[in-house]
Amino acid sequence: MKIVVIGSGYVGLVSGVCFAKLGHEVVCVDKDEKKIAALKSGIVPIFEPGLSKLLTEVIITKKISFTTSLSEALLTTHHLPLTTVFIAVGTPQDEDGSADLSYVLAAAKEVAELSDSPKLIVTKSTVPASTGAKIKELVKATNPKLDFAVASNPEFLREGVAINDFMNPDRIVVGVEDEKSQKIFEDIYAAFPREKLVVTDIITAELIKYASNSFLATKISFINEMADLCEAVGGNIKQLARAVGLDSRIGEKFLNPGPGFGGSCFPKDILAIINVAKENLVELSLINSVITSNQKRRKKMVEKILALRAKKIALLGLAFKGNTDDIRYSPAIMIAQELVQKDVQIFAHDFAAVENARREFAGVKNISFFENLYEATADADLIVIATEWEEYKEIDFSRIKTKKILDLRNIFDAKEMRKKGFEYHYVGSK
Ligand SMILES: NC(=O)c1ccc[n+]([C@@H]2O[C@H](COP(=O)([O-])OP(=O)(O)OC[C@H]3O[C@@H](n4cnc5c(N)ncnc54)[C@H](O)[C@@H]3O)[C@@H](O)[C@H]2O)c1
Repeated sequence: MKIVVIGSGYVGLVSGVCFAKLGHEVVCVDKDEKKIAALKSGIVPIFEPGLSKLLTEVIITKKISFTTSLSEALLTTHHLPLTTVFIAVGTPQDEDGSADLSYVLAAAKEVAELSDSPKLIVTKSTVPASTGAKIKELVKATNPKLDFAVASNPEFLREGVAINDFMNPDRIVVGVEDEKSQKIFEDIYAAFPREKLVVTDIITAELIKYASNSFLATKISFINEMADLCEAVGGNIKQLARAVGLDSRIGEKFLNPGPGFGGSCFPKDILAIINVAKENLVELSLINSVITSNQKRRKKMVEKILALRAKKIALLGLAFKGNTDDIRYSPAIMIAQELVQKDVQIFAHDFAAVENARREFAGVKNISFFENLYEATADADLIVIATEWEEYKEIDFSRIKTKKILDLRNIFDAKEMRKKGFEYHYVGSK
C-alpha cells in the first residue's frame, strides 16, 4: 500500500521505516530540512537502537523516500484509488496544560489543500478526544469536494525499544468511522495476527492512548510512594515491588521506584486528559493527585542529593530513560536544573543525550559534560545515577574513586555495593 507519513520524528520515522519493512511504499515528510537531508543520505537524526540498520535496508529495497514537500509526496498518489496519510507531528503541552493541536491541524489542512484524490487521514500523534471530528470539519471546510475519511491509530511505541514495540505490538488500536477504513487498516497491518487489531470508534481510540499513559504514570507514582513508606518504616522496596508485581492482576512492569516519570509523553498526556475532562465537567481526582505526587518526587530527589552534602556531583544519565537521546521533561535534566542553582558543581554523563543536554544548558556555568563516564566521576565526591542505562550496570568499579553513590534508579544490589566498599544509597532505603 502507499502510505504518506507527515512528521519524521521519533514516532513518524519509526512508523514509516517499519511500514516500509512490512512491504508498504512509504513517503516520509518533514518540514525540517536538515532532518530530511540526513534521512535521504541514510543517516538517522535521532538515537534509536536498530533504526539505522532498518533504514538502510528499506532504502535499498526502495520502499521509502523522504521529502520536505507534502505536495511532492501527494503528487505520487494522484492516480491511486485511495492513499492513507498518517499525521505523526508533535502535540506539545500548551500553556494551559491542554495539547497544542496546531501542528496536527496545520498538517490536516495542508493535506486537504493539496489533495485531489481520495484520502484516509489518520492521527498517529497523541490527540485529545474529538480531534478526529475537528480534523473532519477542517478538511471539509478547506476542500469540500475531497473524498476522505478520518481515523485514529494512536502509537504505543517506547523510545529505546521502538522498533521492537512497533513490530511486536501488544495491540494495534484503530478508531474508524466506517468499514472501508477498517479494511484499510486490516491491509496495512496484515502482517500481524488479526486479533491484535482493536477496532473502536474514533473518540474511544483517542481516549485509549491517554488512559493507557495515565494508568502507567499512576503505577509509577504508586510505587514511588511505597518507596517513601519503605524508607520511613524500614521496609525493602525491591522485595515489596517484586511481591506486589507477582500478582497477575497487577504485573511486575512499571513497579520500579525512581525520580518520577518524565519524557515527551506522560507529563503532557496526563495534563491533556485532565484538560479534556475539565472541558467536559468531569473531575479526574486520581490523575490530578498523580501530577502532584510526581512534582513532589523531583523535589524530594533534589533534597536527597543535597542531604549527602556533596559539592561535586557526577550525574550519570541525562535522557529521560535509557537507550534514547530524548531529554524532553527528563527528571535527570530537571534535577540538574535545580542543582546548578545551588552551590554545586555537576559533571554530567550520558551515553546518547550529551549533545541535547549541552544545548539545554548553554551558558550555564557549573555544569560540564562528559562522554566518558570514568572522566565524569574522576573528581566527584558523589555519584548520582539518574537514568537507567543498562550500560551503567557494567561499570568497572575498580576505576571509580568516589565512594559515595546515590542510585535513583535502584539498578544495583545494595549488599553487593556495600561489599565493594561503597556508601550506597538508593530509592526506598532508610
Ligand atoms: N516519542 C514517543 O515515544 C511517542 C510515543 C507514542 C506517541 N507519541 C506521540 O507522537 C507524536 C509525535 O511525537 P514525536 O516524539 O515523534 O515528536 P517529534 O517532535 O520527534 O517529531 C515531530 C516531527 O514533526 C515535524 N513536523 C511538525 N509539523 C509538520 C508539518 N506540518 N509537516 C511536516 N512535518 C512536521 C517536526 O519537524 C518533527 O520532526 C506526539 O503526539 C507524541 O505524543 C510519541
